[in-house]
Amino acid sequence: MIPDGYLLSSEPEWLARFASGLPERATMIELGTYKGKSAYYLGKGIQQVNGTLITVDIHLDYMNSDKFIGDHYIRSCYSNNLLGTIIPIIGDFYEVRKFFNMPIDALFIDGLHEYENVKKDFEEWSPLIKVGGFVLFHDVHNGFPGIQRFVGDIAQLKNDWENAGGSNSIKCFKKLR
Ligand SMILES: C[S@@+](CC[C@H](N)C(=O)[O-])C[C@H]1O[C@@H](n2cnc3c(N)ncnc32)[C@H](O)[C@@H]1O
Repeated sequence: MIPDGYLLSSEPEWLARFASGLPERATMIELGTYKGKSAYYLGKGIQQVNGTLITVDIHLDYMNSDKFIGDHYIRSCYSNNLLGTIIPIIGDFYEVRKFFNMPIDALFIDGLHEYENVKKDFEEWSPLIKVGGFVLFHDVHNGFPGIQRFVGDIAQLKNDWENAGGSNSIKCFKKLR
């Protein structure tokens, strides 16, 4: 079964298509997985190029009770034939970043949605993106003005990041240098 999540109408297919267009054996990181919906589509896409999706999330059900819900996600990776493609890391973004230091082809940012959160996620993790690689932001719409504002900041850095499209609330930029 496809896990629940917060993707809007056209986004699942767009994410799968995006990931299937990455280079052979690409590595992508997802920051913010929740129950695993976006990971499912990114995973199915990147599987087509024999790539790897590394997901990072603390996996506490922050919408309800702080209950650990990672077991459902891991089980869904197994039942959807995604173990081997997805490497789930269970932990805090910034704790994990301390020991994580490999170049990546793409980064999907979907953690907390205030300006300072998105900014910190980007500043900590985007240095790992290879030149020619991509950063993707989710929930870029009026409901989350902090994300909109931060993505507006990135759009101004035209020597560093080129607008590479997106779909619905997903905005994608290519790293130029
Ligand atoms: C909006 S949800 C992700 C939705 C998911 N991408 C989907 O497709 O449904 C945000 C997730 O980010 C995680 N998160 C936010 N800040 C975090 C942090 N600093 N470390 C680890 N996980 C974090 C939360 O636990 C939550 O599961």
